[in-house]
Amino acid sequence: MKNNKNMMYIGGVPCDKLAETCGTPLYIYDENAIEERIKNYTTYFKSDLFDTEIIYASKAFAAKAMFQIVNKYGASLDVVSGGELYLAKESSVPMDRIYFHGNNKTEEELDIAFKYGCKTIVLDNLMECAKLIEKAEEYQKEIHVIIRINPGVNAHTHKYIVTGDPDSKFGVLIEDYEKIVNMIKVISASKYVIFDGFHSHIGSQIFDMEAFHVTVERMIKLIKRLKDEDDIIVRFLNLGGGFGVHYTDNDDPLTIKEISNLLIKKCETEIKKHEIKLDKIMIEPGRSMVAEAGYTLYTIGFNKKTPNKEYIFIDGGMSDNIRVALYQAKYDCDIANKMDEDKTTCYSVAGKCCESGDILIENAMLPKAEEDDLLVVYSTGAYGYSMANNYNKLRRPAVVFAKDGKARIVIKREDYQDMTRYETDEEVNI
Ligand code: LLP
Repeated sequence: MKNNKNMMYIGGVPCDKLAETCGTPLYIYDENAIEERIKNYTTYFKSDLFDTEIIYASKAFAAKAMFQIVNKYGASLDVVSGGELYLAKESSVPMDRIYFHGNNKTEEELDIAFKYGCKTIVLDNLMECAKLIEKAEEYQKEIHVIIRINPGVNAHTHKYIVTGDPDSKFGVLIEDYEKIVNMIKVISASKYVIFDGFHSHIGSQIFDMEAFHVTVERMIKLIKRLKDEDDIIVRFLNLGGGFGVHYTDNDDPLTIKEISNLLIKKCETEIKKHEIKLDKIMIEPGRSMVAEAGYTLYTIGFNKKTPNKEYIFIDGGMSDNIRVALYQAKYDCDIANKMDEDKTTCYSVAGKCCESGDILIENAMLPKAEEDDLLVVYSTGAYGYSMANNYNKLRRPAVVFAKDGKARIVIKREDYQDMTRYETDEEVNI
């Protein structure tokens, strides 16, 4: 992102031209910035002791263009539904690089996984285990599994961790040793299902590496215990995602290089300490791959002064960014066509949805805003488009990739016909 004569450029493309040709609201990704992040992960998350694998958590931003970049850099993909799996297939992501997650995969989704030849299922629970074995027998096809473990590390409740949420809906509690052993034995007794290892994911937007370190300690201790007490060999360990990013200046994330180095070092130390061997360690970043590479561009419409506030209204809102209403997420913004002007006015940036909570940013210091100015919101690349909705029948915006002065639309803006596409009046034969 650069400025030239008051105008912001993203990927070398001026924002006014993007708005003019693609319309607003508009999600814009700096393609080089995504590529750099993937490259950093694949370069720095490496060890001499074990293989490594970078798995992009596609829920952060799922699009063919994104999956093609993932492919280009040899990364793998975490999918969590039949829809994401379908998109992966349509994007030619090799099925041996897909990890299919979810606490309640439906029969239809498991069928799709077998039909597509998806290599690995991340198993959540014992019932799923039984279902998968049944399915594998039905299809007479091999399938690999890693078991999701809840390591009892809750990165959000307390800085110094250790008490996880035992009531989490995800995975098998690490304390349930017998349950874990039982699951592995059931898998090992089956003809087609192959046990590869464990997965853990402790949350999202985490800055404290201590939380990950405690997770590594606990997971490796479990692996050691399984080897010593039950002769069970665990080959893979997937440590999930969750690495924090910069939304506002209150966020001070580590770099991808720092995160990678710290995690690798911790894994190596624990492996040596417990004298175990692991074939591969994986991580599964979503947000940190795409958040800061993404921007949302809006056109400013009317403004309004109330006794205590000065509003500017934008042509999107909680339909293209639900994170503020849902998580009280904070964002920074600028007027993309007034980048060199002094920030003199404090605004409440409100969306156009019919809800008082539809406020994107409070207390935004900006240059004096006028109708048709362009508002750019930073770090919207993760969980923005992927959580967008049609509330108030607003159209989901287009997504543009900008790179080296060129732009391409990778997802079109919805049109009004899309809003009525599924309206019907069909009698149901019951
Ligand atoms: N792996 C698993 C199993 C996950 O559940 C998630 C995120 C990730 C990886 C990627 O985590 P990340 O690196 O993106 O933090 N909608 C929320 C975030 C939900 C995250 C859910 N799981 C938000 O907008 O903040």
